[in-house]
Amino acid sequence: MSSPWKAERVRSATTTIFAEMSALAVATQSVNLGQGFPDTDGPEFMLDEARAAIAAGVNQYPPGRGILPLRQAIADHASRHYGLDYDPETEVLVTTGATEALAATILAFVDPGDEVVALEPFYDSYAASIDLAGGRRVGVGLFGPEFTLDHAELAAAFTERTKAILINSPHNPTGVVLSDADLAEIARLAIEHDVLVICDEVYEHLTFDDAQHRPLAMLPGMRERTVRISSSGKTFSATGWKIGWALSTPELISEITAVKQFLTFVSGAPFQPAIARALNEGDAWVEQARLGLQAKRDRLAAGLRSVGLDPVIPQGTYFMTTDVTPLGYPDGVAFCRDLPVRCGVVAIPHQVFYDRVAAGRPYVRWAFCKRDDVLDEAVTRLRALA
Ligand SMILES: Cc1ncc(COP(=O)(O)O)c(C=O)c1O
Repeated sequence: MSSPWKAERVRSATTTIFAEMSALAVATQSVNLGQGFPDTDGPEFMLDEARAAIAAGVNQYPPGRGILPLRQAIADHASRHYGLDYDPETEVLVTTGATEALAATILAFVDPGDEVVALEPFYDSYAASIDLAGGRRVGVGLFGPEFTLDHAELAAAFTERTKAILINSPHNPTGVVLSDADLAEIARLAIEHDVLVICDEVYEHLTFDDAQHRPLAMLPGMRERTVRISSSGKTFSATGWKIGWALSTPELISEITAVKQFLTFVSGAPFQPAIARALNEGDAWVEQARLGLQAKRDRLAAGLRSVGLDPVIPQGTYFMTTDVTPLGYPDGVAFCRDLPVRCGVVAIPHQVFYDRVAAGRPYVRWAFCKRDDVLDEAVTRLRALA
């Protein structure tokens, strides 16, 4: 039900399919492979650090930009992994998850009527934040069955009104990691059209086989026009802590901070020292988690194949896509609504991530960041469909 007072600006902010599917999961006691959160915790030393911080009284407003040890750890992480140097005093902002970093960045730079080019399917907060700013999203398809970026479509998406391009790689929901050729073309167009680049890199460490995440900011001419956004949620299996960050030039970070202070003011005091420690000392844990996730990917892929589906093997993220037409469903929404009732499993239809819904119609997204016994139980239940 919507109120007659509802602002036009937030028209895309309706109850999401995630809420509908999670409610269905509870009502039908389904195995939930819908929402993307892991069911195991991050490194023990990180959890201990947060407990210790609460016990030590780290429970009041931290500094607006985040505590310096965390900003230093974020900067060191960028330098160690990518050779990208950021000044922790002026070029790092701690936010309430990547979601707030994205919202604050879009609100800081997008005016009504401005266009934001983004990879479609889009993560759902992009649409809401662009709408809040009064901007217009312009999708560039990563469409099935190949889910590759069409460079001609990308080039055609830029107009005089383009203010920014928003890139997500590794990409939710397709699991695509953009290639070096894709990154080079995005960089070329961003410079040619003189636009801001916003990079959502929350899955930066969740890449598989020989796929590697390369931040766009590493390309010549890009660091000064790029806001890199990431978060501890996916990397350290702590999606509920909501510690994220933005990295960019002092000028851009100041503008984003100005907006952030009126969204949440500050973020999660006792979690900040814990994430600082995880960033500083957690590389080995992250590598093990990545390998574990790759095995889960292969486990779910084999299971889905055994029930007659043909999964698109993701290069990154913790999501896998299938076309559900072989099971007699040309429409993923109908499939996902029936699935909990027919066999007690929840998945998410791709369509909800698209403006051009027809392109996403037959596809369904499955999260594999779950315990092996949970994945196995899901596959056992799916056999009822065959
Ligand atoms: C592509 C993408 N960006 C951002 C987020 C949100 O990150 P956070 O929980 O740190 O706000 C998610 C979470 O699912 C995501 O998939």
